[in-house]
Amino acid sequence: MSLKITINLTEDSKISSFDAENIKFGQVFTDHMFACDYINHEWQNFRIDPFGKIPLSPTLSALHYGQAIFEGMKAVKNTDGVITLFRPLDNLKRLNQSAVRMCMPTLSEEIFMEALHKICSIDKNWIPTKTGSALYIRPFMFATDDFLGVKPSENYSFMVYACPVNAYYTHALKVRVEEHFTRAAKGGVGAAKCAGNYAASMYPTKLAQDLGYDQVLWTDGATHEFFEETGTSNVFVVTDDAVYTPEINDTLLAGITRDSIIQYLKHEGHQVIETKVSVRQVIDWHKQGKIKEMFVSGTAATVTNIELMAYQGQDYTINATDNLLSKQILNFFNNIKTLAAKDPFNWVSIVPSEAVINQ
Ligand SMILES: Cc1ncc(COP(=O)(O)O)c(C=O)c1O
Repeated sequence: MSLKITINLTEDSKISSFDAENIKFGQVFTDHMFACDYINHEWQNFRIDPFGKIPLSPTLSALHYGQAIFEGMKAVKNTDGVITLFRPLDNLKRLNQSAVRMCMPTLSEEIFMEALHKICSIDKNWIPTKTGSALYIRPFMFATDDFLGVKPSENYSFMVYACPVNAYYTHALKVRVEEHFTRAAKGGVGAAKCAGNYAASMYPTKLAQDLGYDQVLWTDGATHEFFEETGTSNVFVVTDDAVYTPEINDTLLAGITRDSIIQYLKHEGHQVIETKVSVRQVIDWHKQGKIKEMFVSGTAATVTNIELMAYQGQDYTINATDNLLSKQILNFFNNIKTLAAKDPFNWVSIVPSEAVINQ
């Protein structure tokens, strides 16, 4: 291993105050974070520090011009203490695609994987083992130039922090199909996991939440006739003959969970159709009683059913049957991640137990 990481462990661990039985999503952070800096065209200063605040200049380029990208992934620990990651190189690939789109530097596999392995190992006692819980890992990169003016920054930081979580959603979702606001336009940055996409989605989401819905179900910006995704996840519609999901284009995020579900369902003999999914068509299917279930998919969202869909002022209840495909998918993912079942796709990557060494 050639990457030299300076490890500065905390002397003030918060682990004793961590209640694994009572985790609130995104509110508790582990003891450490990884950081490195891009200076003079190369990544350097690899370090693990105690989790905490970072000094920022008011001129920080990311704050003004939005060069900020991130990933979301999970580590799972089984009852034997083995820690696994799920398709981590796909997160790296997407991070680097986001970086290219936002004119930011890419990261090597070595830096990315070392950062993940170190955080998972050093903070392994923070990883909950209850089924469905996990260590949510947030790798992110942002521009750090002290400069006023619109141009790509020359300096960046890449960091990784983590928080123990349960599933993001604790109940089936009520979604509102968006007909006015647009999350992403063709040729824009919808396919990048950049901070601005999430900022842009907050106001319409708040309006939907004020009306009692959980999430916006985005439609295409040009016609508002076709489903895209929700603010945090991809979407699936299960009819009595196939499983439909919006095809990937540059206006939505190519979810790793989405891709895994497609591969798994095909492997199980289901017909999965990636296509333009028309809202009208889904409403017609609903009226004809052809919808068996609808669900969203994402690292944080896991696989969560949609129980109600609002469109043009009308609420449509999705009466999912007992034999939910989403439950089957979730069980399969949980089982392969904890090594309780064989992983025919080679998606699960075990964190080496010696990863904590190399100080
Ligand atoms: C907008 C959006 N779409 C889809 C997803 C699902 O992506 P993944 O399955 O890779 O977590 C996410 C989650 O990161 C998201 O934020």
